[in-house]
Amino acid sequence: MLLSMTTALAAHGSVTKTAFGTAPDGTAVDLYTLKSEGIEASIMTYGARVVSIKTPDRDGKVANVVLGYSALDGYVADKSTYFGAIVGRYGNRIAFGKFSIDGHQYQVPTNNNANSLHGGTVGFDRLVWQGKAITDGVEMTLVSKDGDQGYPGTLTVHVRYTVHHGALRIDYVESTDKPTVVNLTNHSYFNLAGDGTSTILNDEVMLPADKYTPVDAGLIPTGVLAPVEGTPFDFRKATAIGARIHDDNEQLKIAGGYDHNWVLRGNNGEVKTAARVYDSNSGRVLTVTTTEPGVQFYTGNFLDGTKYGAVQEGHAKNTGLCLETQHFPDSPNHPAFPTTELKPGEMRHSTTTFTFSTHAK
Ligand code: GLA
Repeated sequence: MLLSMTTALAAHGSVTKTAFGTAPDGTAVDLYTLKSEGIEASIMTYGARVVSIKTPDRDGKVANVVLGYSALDGYVADKSTYFGAIVGRYGNRIAFGKFSIDGHQYQVPTNNNANSLHGGTVGFDRLVWQGKAITDGVEMTLVSKDGDQGYPGTLTVHVRYTVHHGALRIDYVESTDKPTVVNLTNHSYFNLAGDGTSTILNDEVMLPADKYTPVDAGLIPTGVLAPVEGTPFDFRKATAIGARIHDDNEQLKIAGGYDHNWVLRGNNGEVKTAARVYDSNSGRVLTVTTTEPGVQFYTGNFLDGTKYGAVQEGHAKNTGLCLETQHFPDSPNHPAFPTTELKPGEMRHSTTTFTFSTHAK
């Protein structure tokens, strides 16, 4: 009797809230720790960021499999990696920070050379969200005002993180009071070795995509959906990241590695596999599923081990990989891409799940 009660409690997991410092504007930041069988994920209200994900390796040894900092000041000082954040209002790039909706032109900040990246100079990653414990997780809410970073419409965003049997699921719900563009994603850097220091170059990656969106020198899609066949972008069969990353390939040179959007098979809005990653040393496997039409596979090319402020926890190049499920970069300027426009009265819902498992030797 006692045994079965304990089991039931363990199976249900738990959600706890602790203080995680104070944001530069004086707002208290909370950390929610979600536990379920085979996973423990910590999410903070600053940027609705994933701070840690702890999962077992094939021998049952538990370690944190995402890059981050031990304290809030690291995240505040670091303005370039977006570790663990929900990026928005528009994740990834908009060419020259310009787009138009219904004949109205908009200009958003150009914070990445000539282009806009991840929502502008003060994107959603740098705001304190409203946290609320829910069954198996936390709901983070943000209201971005009409004109925030130049984007039209008051946008209300609810992001729910929940854990279940080794999986972290993220549900996004968005609504607006004026036509706007939205492209939210999570910017976690996975290091399946669980040490945050070894490179991801030996990880084997599978991306079920026949096409990707090649970019210009500013990492803006040219508009072409190019076949991956015969290129280092063909990950339809699991391949080590490092096997072709230094190939003599124009696209790899532009980005200093992989930093591209793959066009996922299947319909926009239907749950489909976006990626699988296997680290043969630890035996950890990460499977990503999503309703989004694309995934930005980024190999941490811009990580340079920099020390951020007082924090001496900079991570070196290629020590983490991102799988940013998303609409394609610069969609507002490519009418042929799946639309990122959101209209008043619409409620957009998307979901992405990161499932962790292990593979025997
Ligand atoms: C995304 C971009 C990269 C880089 C990182 C953040 O993945 O595509 O080019 O800007 O975010 O450093």
